[in-house]
Amino acid sequence: MGFKEQIDINRLPEHIAIIMDGNGRWAKNQGKFRVFGHESGVLSVKDIVEGCVDIGIKYLTVYAFSTENWNRPIDEVNALMELLISTINNEAETLNKNNVRLNAIGDIKSLPQKCIDDLANVMEITDKNTKCTLTLALSYSAKWEIIEATKKLAQQVVEQKIKLEDINEDSFNAQLTTAQLPEPELMIRTSGEHRVSNFLLWQIAYTELYFTETLWPDFRREHLFEAIVDY
Ligand code: FPP
Repeated sequence: MGFKEQIDINRLPEHIAIIMDGNGRWAKNQGKFRVFGHESGVLSVKDIVEGCVDIGIKYLTVYAFSTENWNRPIDEVNALMELLISTINNEAETLNKNNVRLNAIGDIKSLPQKCIDDLANVMEITDKNTKCTLTLALSYSAKWEIIEATKKLAQQVVEQKIKLEDINEDSFNAQLTTAQLPEPELMIRTSGEHRVSNFLLWQIAYTELYFTETLWPDFRREHLFEAIVDY
């Protein structure tokens, strides 16, 4: 029996978050450049999105580019941005066909303009889709997000729009980039690293963590189903 058949559809996580790690090592293992690993990683993203649609996962959030990733060699950063642009444009039609809405979180304005524009475009043309929300975390770090939320609340206090006592879990949550998303029940990290690395810190207070040795470019829906069965 495959993992898919073992999934209890009454106990599906509503929201799965994934730290896609190991692209560089995967490429290196084959004597290829790191970028080849990222390109192959896109195939995994596509398969995982379709796997989520297949079994009815409502929200999938993937860590596509962290704030720390800006420190990588400029050629790799540029290649990742190019890959992002080509992928979202190439996949727009498939997203619509699969009824998937594209969403993005992070410091989006720090991305190249073409990236910002194409993201906005594909988000708009998939905006009415209801089966699954795919959120790309781009130039994202949880500490950045928490500080941004804190600044916004502090500003509202200074401007006397809210009182200090109005700051609570709900009002704080409303300022996060994930305000419209439920908290993930399951977070997956590939490639054998057992760390959270500044991804969704506030949101994972009660999240189950799942670590696998599989490198991201090898991760396919069967691996996702295995993680869900484990959950
Ligand atoms: C981590 O592997 C992965 C990334 C930094 C980027 C993830 C990006 C993609 C899968 C492609 C773009 C995504 C979309 C949604 C278009 P690593 O480079 O840190 O691997 P390593 O730890 O083995 O060096």
